Amino acid sequence: MTRFAVRTVPAPLRAEDPRYDLRTTLGGLELTNPVLTASGCAASGRELDQFFDVAALGAVVTKSIMLAPRSGRATPRMAETPSGMLNSIGLQGPGIDAFLEHDLPWLHAKGARAVVSIAGGSVEEFGELARRLRGAPGLAAVEVNISCPNVANRGLVFACDPGAASEVVGAVRRHTTPAVPVLAKLSPDVTDIVAVARSCVSAGADGLSMINTLLGMVIDPGTMRPVLAGITGGLSGPAIRPVAVRCIWQVHAAMPQVPIIGMGGVRSGLDALEMILAGASAVSVGTAVFGDPCAPVRVLTELRHALVARGFASVGAAVGFAHRAPDRAADVGL
Ligand SMILES: Cc1cc2nc3c(=O)[nH]c(=O)nc-3n(C[C@H](O)[C@H](O)[C@H](O)COP(=O)(O)O)c2cc1C
Repeated sequence: MTRFAVRTVPAPLRAEDPRYDLRTTLGGLELTNPVLTASGCAASGRELDQFFDVAALGAVVTKSIMLAPRSGRATPRMAETPSGMLNSIGLQGPGIDAFLEHDLPWLHAKGARAVVSIAGGSVEEFGELARRLRGAPGLAAVEVNISCPNVANRGLVFACDPGAASEVVGAVRRHTTPAVPVLAKLSPDVTDIVAVARSCVSAGADGLSMINTLLGMVIDPGTMRPVLAGITGGLSGPAIRPVAVRCIWQVHAAMPQVPIIGMGGVRSGLDALEMILAGASAVSVGTAVFGDPCAPVRVLTELRHALVARGFASVGAAVGFAHRAPDRAADVGL
């Protein structure tokens, strides 16, 4: 694991203050607060738990799990980029059996809410993963990582095709207990993200996570070759935040009733607030944890300060606030 520079976490505000209502809901799932980890950036939460109690977060979103164990792509798999990073990890993981035996029970015993991210190469594989998760203790929600190549269709990424995306989400929804929300994680690498969002919701998604990484590439002018062994990789970090905010804005404008988890370059409470104002009901912190493992709890504390400073009575009052006309400031809730 990357070596971390530990930073001090600001003292939390008084939790008993009635204005500090940080609860939020995602498709029927109530969370004590709106800050989550982002899939793939905190494994199953164990490594972060040495820095802070992961149960203090709204939820831990686990690394996308596949049916079989995978060792991932060849190295180098990470490259630094201006205000971001590029990764081509290739969904390395222990497979669903080991995950159900070790990781999910650990999160459950910690009292953390686990949003389990799943990934597959076919509709059937996604359905089977959902079936295996059904009834697992500690499962709070299923996040469907549809940014995977569809083996049956020339490797076309499910998330880039509204029809394929809806088939995957439909299969997961059918195999998941109705009480457990299914969240579709969208890719920004599409012409019309609203079209993909709509088809996922029509297929039964209770909420949407956005955004996954953008496809990028880095060439080293010294070696004059691609830096990543996998040639291309996913771009994340602050560089992509304006893209994430735009996607959240567009989808919230089209479907304001659908809960969104926003992610993409969140490093501070103000970054998180920006996503909430665009329409997110919760926010995931990803790449930031590689430089600051306490980033999720720090973001939570800063977000609380930011909401209070702007007079928001609750997280819900701020969700989508930027869409409202300026003269509706009384809607803040105070
Ligand atoms: C190293 C790394 C691994 C990732 N692995 C996954 C993954 O397994 N599943 C997934 O849905 N997203 C994965 N992502 C994408 C993140 O969850 C997130 O959507 C994206 O990085 C944008 O947020 P950020 O800028 O805060 O990292 C990964 C990102 C990084 C940097």
